[in-house]
Amino acid sequence: MAAKLKIGVIVGTTRQGRFADKALEWFEPKIAAREDLDYEVLDLRDFALPMFDEAAPPAAKPVTSPAAQAWEKKLLEFDGFIVLTAEYNHSLPASIKNAFDYAFKGWYRKPLGTMGYGGVGAARAVEHLRMIAINFGMVPVRGATTIGGADFVAAMQGKPASEWGDHLDAPTTEMLDDMVFWGNAAKAAKG
Ligand SMILES: Cc1cc2nc3c(=O)[nH]c(=O)nc-3n(C[C@H](O)[C@H](O)[C@H](O)COP(=O)(O)O)c2cc1C
Repeated sequence: MAAKLKIGVIVGTTRQGRFADKALEWFEPKIAAREDLDYEVLDLRDFALPMFDEAAPPAAKPVTSPAAQAWEKKLLEFDGFIVLTAEYNHSLPASIKNAFDYAFKGWYRKPLGTMGYGGVGAARAVEHLRMIAINFGMVPVRGATTIGGADFVAAMQGKPASEWGDHLDAPTTEMLDDMVFWGNAAKAAKG
């Protein structure tokens, strides 16, 4: 049997009091229940990347910042990534863009899934992230977890993750199925 895929779950916002922790609380049991993949949570807070400050793009020249070197090395362990993202001013948070800018090989030809949360489920941030991912040779998958509208307001107001509702499960299953499909396809193609 083929080895299980290993998926990195990136917690993308870093500010104090972030909602991202609640999003992870809801999402982690869903991915943990899957028997066809392994995962690890990658919290951008833990990697403390500086604002991009390299002489060349990582696609052209290896990064020199020790924090970025550790980040790229970590990314190389994974077969795909799921980004938990908010929407800041109609796009993705700068912390996530910076984390993408700071690597290349670690992203290359791997699937990208998303869990977007916010008033409109971070829809604009997710679409922008998908376009950025294409420049890394990634495959943004169709399925997506989206927590928006009244769901997001209720969660912000303290509704426990366990009560967010099973209507979020089907899209999440689709996203995870897509990650497995494209992750295995990419792995097989790479040989
Ligand atoms: C700088 C900033 C900009 C924001 N811009 C948007 C936005 O454009 N659209 C939106 O739906 N929510 C916006 N919000 C509200 C966020 O959806 C909400 O604060 C969410 O909790 C942010 O995720 P975080 O708590 O993990 O940082 C913004 C929040 C911040 C802090």
